[in-house]
Amino acid sequence: MSDGFSRELIQRLREARHILVLSGAGASAESGIPTFRDALTGLWERFDPSQLATAEAFQADPEMVWGWQEWQRTLAARCQPNPGHLAIARLQTLVPHVTVATQNVDDLHERAGSDTVVHLHGSIHSSRCFDCGVDWAGPVPTEAELSADAPEGGRRLAPPRCLDCGGMIRPGVVWFGEPMPQREWSIAEYAAMACDVAIVVGTSSVVYPAAELPRLAHSWGALVVEVNLERGGLEDLGGHFLGGAAGQVLPALVDTAWP
Ligand code: OAD
Repeated sequence: MSDGFSRELIQRLREARHILVLSGAGASAESGIPTFRDALTGLWERFDPSQLATAEAFQADPEMVWGWQEWQRTLAARCQPNPGHLAIARLQTLVPHVTVATQNVDDLHERAGSDTVVHLHGSIHSSRCFDCGVDWAGPVPTEAELSADAPEGGRRLAPPRCLDCGGMIRPGVVWFGEPMPQREWSIAEYAAMACDVAIVVGTSSVVYPAAELPRLAHSWGALVVEVNLERGGLEDLGGHFLGGAAGQVLPALVDTAWP
């Protein structure tokens, strides 16, 4: 089989009625968004997500956490989907049912054309009141924000106030120690049980319960395909490991399976 993909893998993809894609930070790395555990370089090294992405951190220093979130949001808005996101979006034209479940809080899957994206860890493009939970419509990046130089990651910014109760507005992402959104989890869990192939892209598979999904898929008979620069601890599932960058491996895989 060309590109080094096994015959069995290509056959299973072609026959699949339902594919689950589970993506992590590595899927957006080639778009310019740093991952959590690899790229502790540049601006990112000054921020430890596990310290900032908690309710306690927000209560202790809301300006710091909101400023960090705004930096992430502006950074993501300037980034473009990469060929990996585009290949995933193309799957929905080739396979009867595709579920894209992502741990990423950016919207690059949507911008690549994926129709329904399940955000297991929320989205930096949504916000809600820390106190009463009501959704907050904003903020939308301004033209000036998008065209200026990269924003300073350490900028402190006061979070807006809730129009209903006056509470602080918090990022619509899942922080450490918080449960996943129930609806999103149910959709992903169902897809793991129903899919024929689970493609696990760019995740270190260490944050649960998201990391449980490939195991669930495997236990229900799906073939698990891992796309990553390095093995992420799914070896025992006996699937396929495709070593390399998502932006190269995924287009080659889709082109080979559906020439
Ligand atoms: P990590 O930063 O833990 O892992 C990124 C993975 O992507 C690593 O396994 C890399 O080897 C791989 N990788 C990097 N570049 C890649 C590329 N170009 N192509 C393919 N693979 C690549 O990110 P996640 O697994 O997404 O949670 O982290 C999971 C969760 O932990 C995040 O959603 C976040 C974090 O703390 C919350 O915020 C709740």
